[in-house]
Amino acid sequence: MATLAPISIRGLNHSFGKGSLRKQTLFDISTEIPQGEIVIVTGPSGSGKTTMLTLVGALRSTQEGSVRVLGQELCGAKPAALEKVRKQIGFIFQQHNLLEALTAIQNVELGARVSGKIRRSQLRKRAAHMLDAVGLGDFLHHHPEQLSGGQRQRVAIARALVGEPAMLLADEPTASLDKKSGREVVDRMKFLAREHGTTILLVTHDNRILDIADRIVHLEDGRLSTFTDSVIANNRHMMQVLADNRKKQPIEEVVENLDEPGFNMLLNEITEESQRFLEATALASDVAFKSMLARGLSAFTHKLSQLLNAERCSLFLVEGNSLLLKVARDLEEGVEIRIPIGSGIAGAAAETGEVINIPDAYADRRFNPDVDKRTGYRTRSILSLPIKNQQGHVFAVAQLLNRNDGQPFDQNDEARFLSFIESIGVIFETLEDLSSFKQGAAELKS
Ligand SMILES: Nc1ncnc2c1ncn2[C@@H]1O[C@H](COP(=O)(O)OP(=O)(O)OP(=O)(O)O)[C@@H](O)[C@H]1O
Ligand SMILES: [Mg+2]
Repeated sequence: MATLAPISIRGLNHSFGKGSLRKQTLFDISTEIPQGEIVIVTGPSGSGKTTMLTLVGALRSTQEGSVRVLGQELCGAKPAALEKVRKQIGFIFQQHNLLEALTAIQNVELGARVSGKIRRSQLRKRAAHMLDAVGLGDFLHHHPEQLSGGQRQRVAIARALVGEPAMLLADEPTASLDKKSGREVVDRMKFLAREHGTTILLVTHDNRILDIADRIVHLEDGRLSTFTDSVIANNRHMMQVLADNRKKQPIEEVVENLDEPGFNMLLNEITEESQRFLEATALASDVAFKSMLARGLSAFTHKLSQLLNAERCSLFLVEGNSLLLKVARDLEEGVEIRIPIGSGIAGAAAETGEVINIPDAYADRRFNPDVDKRTGYRTRSILSLPIKNQQGHVFAVAQLLNRNDGQPFDQNDEARFLSFIESIGVIFETLEDLSSFKQGAAELKS
């Protein structure tokens, strides 16, 4: 299948060395990076991050699998084709490779010249501007040997960015920068991605910049996993360390040597510490979980409205005796909208478990026109779809408004919905189960 993504990797394996010394570093890597997306690669030292980056940058030949970059298959490509790909990429690598004989601004100009995108008359101005942007406005005419490690790195960054490349590959770009200049550099990258559609693949150990990523992937022993997997693995490890540490402390001995006030203090300390720990972990996992759940529900709702060709679609979850609006256009954060089960159209669908199809909303007594009044939207037809779990209980209601072709919803739409639900019902139900599990846990606590 043809792919439009600027980076598409399939079944990539890579090994170094020959014969008995041969060692595989990358195992069956597959991923796709759409245009303008910023993907961060994390992973421990030696996990294969730089190797992967050099393969994508056509700096190393691909041995096995497919690596398509900017429309060119790199595996087995001719040197001229590889060169053409490289010219469209800005590189920021661990070793900066500045030319010692040139000044900072000349090094940056060279970057713009290679890309061939910028007119000669503009070169100097652009280079100066870019150096200024990375905080080196006063160092334009210094030679690399007169600059610190962090400054040299910033020259390399300016050089990579100045040609506004279609793609940027960066290996630890903020490693030797302080917090402020590190932030400036990544903000600059974000700007390139948003304004120019630059696709960015960035390796980093720097947790402070993870927020600029559209997606984070993790390499461990040459295998790619999701960031969620890595956070879970890391958390387990940290928790284990914490648990093991506590065991090492021979608490009996400590207690024996304490008088009563001392003992009270110790007990207080332990209690307080546990409380803080519980609060912090509950908060962190709750926030992360809610965001994952919200993503799943939004994806579902959006796909459903596309499938049934509806102008709008919203989603309610059953919570106790009411429906809680979870996904809707212009749903304000922090505002909770609840409808008692049995009232309104969604409420009726939840109560009866039947699909409700209303061709003309304003002719139906159950329709409440308040939302239309507030938003200026004009509801014509409504399709309210109860979603049931395996026991047949309604746990959610999807509500579609107005078919795009102006016609009311029909039986084909209902049938399409049912087969869609069937195909993803299990995933959806798992999300719902987890959500009510969390809900239950939260209620127990309070
Ligand atoms: N040119 C090479 N020849 C032989 N082995 C290599 C070569 N380059 C890398 N390796 C090996 O491949 C593995 C992955 O190296 P790589 O540089 O990709 O790791 P990395 O994830 O970038 O690590 P770091 O975070 O330390 O930069 C390592 O075990 C390394 O020793
Ligand atoms: Mg590396």
